Amino acid sequence: MKAPILIKNARCVSSQGIVQQDVLIEDGKIAQLGQINTELAGEIIDASNLFLLPGVLDPQVHFRDPGLTWKEDLRTGSMAAAAGGVTSFFDMPNTKPSTITSAAMAERKRGAAEKCVVNYNFFIGATDANLQELNAVKNVPGIKIFMGSSTGDLLVSDVQDLDHIFGHGSRLIAVHAEDDDIINAAREIYKNSKDFNHHQFVRPPDAALKSTTLAVELAIKYQRRLHILHLTTKDEVQYLEIQKGKAPISAEVCPQHFLLSAPFVYKKLGAYAQMNPPIRNMEHGEALWNGLVNGVIDCIATDHAPHTHEEKAQSFGKAPSGMPGVETSLPLMLDRANRGMCTLENVVNWMCEKPVELYQVKNKGFIRDGFDADLVLVDMQKQKMIENGKLFTKVNWSPFNGWTTQGWPVTTIVNGHIVFQDGGIDESVKGQEIQIGSS
Ligand code: DOR
Repeated sequence: MKAPILIKNARCVSSQGIVQQDVLIEDGKIAQLGQINTELAGEIIDASNLFLLPGVLDPQVHFRDPGLTWKEDLRTGSMAAAAGGVTSFFDMPNTKPSTITSAAMAERKRGAAEKCVVNYNFFIGATDANLQELNAVKNVPGIKIFMGSSTGDLLVSDVQDLDHIFGHGSRLIAVHAEDDDIINAAREIYKNSKDFNHHQFVRPPDAALKSTTLAVELAIKYQRRLHILHLTTKDEVQYLEIQKGKAPISAEVCPQHFLLSAPFVYKKLGAYAQMNPPIRNMEHGEALWNGLVNGVIDCIATDHAPHTHEEKAQSFGKAPSGMPGVETSLPLMLDRANRGMCTLENVVNWMCEKPVELYQVKNKGFIRDGFDADLVLVDMQKQKMIENGKLFTKVNWSPFNGWTTQGWPVTTIVNGHIVFQDGGIDESVKGQEIQIGSS
């Protein structure tokens, strides 16, 4: 058994405030909080100048494993997570093969147990013909429906098929909400374009609003638990503000959708700026940020979706959509807190507590007696530049390349084991399957 770790004088952050105390970690759990005798510890971490946060749960990543592992795999993706203070993730089903059966799910979880240095779980993907699998699979965060096509071939856009899924079962449904007909019509208009800025018009705001509206109507009709992934429009925020109380509906936003904006980002980054749903203009970005601050949007995810330099070097129309993010989301938000745009309490609420509550994750998200020791120590003074070539993600680039931000994770602890420290990863640490309360 590993000797207990004592974190001394940590300023522990929750949405309710900051409390300076010692934290004793034993057998993978938070064993004691308060003023703790150093004799109890095998290892002592002096955290006098640091803040202690619950580990981040990123509820939307694509670690590409199995089948697309030249872009990322569960080892490199989870290492990137650990370096970014992310101790848990939910991965998406658009792998090869797609994760659409209990058998494929079991295979993924087997791979994850071997390769992941942080905790994991996986969405099951909906098709128009796998309802039984969607409802029978055990212990998953939810069902993912691509209502508009994106990377991979998962798509359920027919209203009757959607109605059938929403109407049968009770498990959470997470939707990529973009209307496929609107996208296809717009794609036709821009089919000869060479301008990456047109990506935002190929997937226009009304495609997002129409699809979100349909998902919300179905959630209301069946009182089904709905989570809307990566919101991108002012229109959806306004719509949700009115509708959210009518059914158990939640929503998330990705940092890149309020930190980057069109047309500048497309001019600067070309294909690297391309993701689905797209980065839009500042007006949408501001509405998303306000929606998060006001609580219309519940939490932050990254949609970490890496593609290689070679793939991104293709022309407009051919280059795939998606960008990495799991390694930079917490630093970007800490920087925002340092600038006074939000508080550390907000960051913990949006990135640790809320995702855990929304998905009914057991024993995580809070620094509490008996909870899993998934923790991250952050240095709010530390400044560092995000740099291509210096990242853990396999593709080794970031849309935030060249940004110097202040406030960085310095130590990440998963299940009581230090997995990230002094810039390095201890690959002997293994993550565990995240337990979902409702499954
Ligand atoms: O930009 C995106 N990339 N959006 C998605 O929905 C999928 C993702 C991917 O897997 O590449």
